Amino acid sequence: MWITYNLPIRPRRLRRSEPLRRMVRETELNPADFIYPLFVQHGRGVRHPIPSMPGQFRLSIDQLAAEAEEILSLGIPAVILFGIPASKDPVGQENFAEDGIVQQAIRELKQAAPELVVITDVCLCEYTDHGHCGLLDLDGEIMNDDTLDILGRVAVSHANAGADIVAPSGMMDGMVQAIRGALDDDGFQHIAIMSYAVKYASAFYGPFRDAAEGAPQFGDRKSHQMDPANAREALREAGLDVEEGADFLMVKPALAYLDVIARVKAAFPQLPLAAYNVSGEYAMIKAAAARGWLDERKVTLETLLGIKRAGADLILTYHAKDAARWLHEE
Ligand code: PBG
Repeated sequence: MWITYNLPIRPRRLRRSEPLRRMVRETELNPADFIYPLFVQHGRGVRHPIPSMPGQFRLSIDQLAAEAEEILSLGIPAVILFGIPASKDPVGQENFAEDGIVQQAIRELKQAAPELVVITDVCLCEYTDHGHCGLLDLDGEIMNDDTLDILGRVAVSHANAGADIVAPSGMMDGMVQAIRGALDDDGFQHIAIMSYAVKYASAFYGPFRDAAEGAPQFGDRKSHQMDPANAREALREAGLDVEEGADFLMVKPALAYLDVIARVKAAFPQLPLAAYNVSGEYAMIKAAAARGWLDERKVTLETLLGIKRAGADLILTYHAKDAARWLHEE
């Protein structure tokens, strides 16, 4: 290709009008790309606002039917559930209890809206009194392999209640294989696993930990969540989860890790890839928009588009309902 002064190449020809721009657009955001996180808690008539996540609520079971209807009417296919238990203990008994808060929520959603895909977060941190993602030994260290048994029990209890997909988020070694085995042993070969395969030890989870009351009571999660400095290691983590039988991969958070999303997608193009646009990423836009410093609608859609362009097929996002509404208006 050569360019003379008289014959310049002019990419702007393709940007002259909205119809032309639409013709050459490479990425399109769709409400069907979104997975909406829901926080559920005990009680009746509860719609408790989460202060650090404006527009997000902790809901009691009786609120879920209306919520599901709204979500489906916006074209959003799926929710992911997080439960706030009535009480916490070292093992997290409610996590696999038949009448646990998440199990109740699954049944309610499946009854009210059978076509809504119900994904459940499978981890210990919201249910244990110490707030860690695994069982602890006497020195306060996570016991990886003992934790796997509990994760299997939790996944089976969610499947029993009617979950379509389980999403282990604890970054324990071998968690996908353990959960696959437990599900298969109980006749749940058809239930898919969306692995939080590449989850970083991120400060962007701050608002979520307030919402789900899942902050560690001491220490941090650096012994299992990944070092933000590492991208090649992400391919190792994702590769292991593929071998262990994951049906979906996830990268989390999204925005500071767009390169990781692109690399994981390139390395494992055969699996659907989800990205988690986490609580802190949501809170930043909300806070700036509340001050009039950013145009919430434009910045949100640009952000979600960027995550998709990087390689995510699905986006877990607290913006899902607003973004779906805006997309329908465009
Ligand atoms: C763990 C879990 C966390 C999030 C999703 N699942 C918290 C953590 O790992 O500390 C964070 C989601 C967000 O910040 O939006 N069960």
